[in-house]
Amino acid sequence: MSRTIIRVVALALIFLAPAAAAQIPAAEYEERRGQLAAQLGDGVLLVLGAPEPPQDYLPFYQAPTFRYLTGVDEPGAALVMVRRGTSTTTTLFVRPRDPRTETWSGPRLGTERATRATGLAAVTADRLHPVLDSLLGAGLALHVAGEYRLGANAAPPISYDQQVLERIRERHPSAALRDVTPLVRRLRARKSDAELTLIRRAAAITVEAHRDAMRAMTPGWNEFEIQALIEYDFRRYGAERPAFASIVGSGPNSVILHYNRNDRFMQAGEVVVIDIGASYAGYAADITRTIPVSGAFSPEQRAIYQIVRDAQAAAERAAQVGAQWSAVTQIASRTLAEGLARVGLIEAPDATYDCGNTGSQQQCPQLSLFYFHGLGHGIGLDVHDPDQALGAGGTTIQLGSAFTIEPGIYVRSNVLDLIPDTPRNRQLIARIRPLVTRHANIGVRIEDDYIVTAQGVEWISRAPREIDEVEALMRESYVGPHPRRAEWVDWYR
Ligand code: GLY
Ligand code: MN
Ligand code: MN
Repeated sequence: MSRTIIRVVALALIFLAPAAAAQIPAAEYEERRGQLAAQLGDGVLLVLGAPEPPQDYLPFYQAPTFRYLTGVDEPGAALVMVRRGTSTTTTLFVRPRDPRTETWSGPRLGTERATRATGLAAVTADRLHPVLDSLLGAGLALHVAGEYRLGANAAPPISYDQQVLERIRERHPSAALRDVTPLVRRLRARKSDAELTLIRRAAAITVEAHRDAMRAMTPGWNEFEIQALIEYDFRRYGAERPAFASIVGSGPNSVILHYNRNDRFMQAGEVVVIDIGASYAGYAADITRTIPVSGAFSPEQRAIYQIVRDAQAAAERAAQVGAQWSAVTQIASRTLAEGLARVGLIEAPDATYDCGNTGSQQQCPQLSLFYFHGLGHGIGLDVHDPDQALGAGGTTIQLGSAFTIEPGIYVRSNVLDLIPDTPRNRQLIARIRPLVTRHANIGVRIEDDYIVTAQGVEWISRAPREIDEVEALMRESYVGPHPRRAEWVDWYR
């Protein structure tokens, strides 16, 4: 079979799998709530859904903690679980049906359908505070899970959850309070088969978008034109939205980690970091490719790209079930440092520079001048989701883990102006400045997604990533939804 036919069959298998397999079954939500309840002491657990968006007519996104425990995807809902000994009473609060409003905004769930969908007793949301008043008035402790920062110095912004909680605490100042969000995060850290199916789909859609971006890339285009094609593909293939602001960063923007203005005209000779992720049924992918605007990497770009790719390959080989995540990150850092030393951007793999305030002797690895983020993170309902290997319940890669591996090198043109002026640093600057100048504005990140099933660690983001593969796909032409109309783009010049 040709590679094209294999791809078409693989995509068909992913997208045409029975629709039911793409949902989280009601029984799984029940199991999640049961696992949480078993870890709670006596008290009332409150989990708030997200409110209506504050500005009119913006899209609604459900709060992940609430979605994880209920599957309910409409605004203004809440979950209350009352735990006494080993018995638990669970109630869902939802907005009431309202035919007049529904004429404008579509049908609401209402209590009856909420009960049918979830198996939970459901009452209208206006009952939430009276019910809480009565339970807390009877002396029960309050447990909360969601977006809280309860420390004494919790800095703004104050989340919706916290605002609601503060109102409750004003009425019940003596109620014992416990933030049980870490318990939910531990549950979320281990993905079920149904969740892994959704993450796999999010990744498959994101891969298609990357492939089209590679085919479409054209010198003189604006970054937003590539963003538009990417997000077109997301919706075209059934994702509800980008899981985070799409990053299409060319030239000087390629070295800015969270650049997302995407409004620069791209030039031949530059690289573009494209860091994107579809959200499918609430689950995020997060995949980065770095490509040359012209379709062919320069020798300097090639050298940096290959170091990053080697680091990712080394990390990927180390990322086995049972491996310590810290060991995976170490091997990636070591590979990056050895590569940068070979190119001459750092003096030696273990070389350091003076990084303390003037006068202090603090040393930092020279590697950190060019690589200054973590190697990866969990993915799931959030693009940065809890994962078992990354602190939520453990340090090793386990069945049900879903995570990224995303090394990068970013040669900022001003990097040597950012370090303290010391004799040692002056010597370093003199040695490496020519190399920094030669590689300035080359930012390369390669980010892939992995899930752990009974078969082991699986790479699920199979967009081209070897230099030859990327350049070959960029020679293909893009067959898009419609041709580009130059007069529209001229509005932005
Ligand atoms: N796209 C955000 C990240 O890579 O972590
Ligand atoms: Mn990431
Ligand atoms: Mn990313």
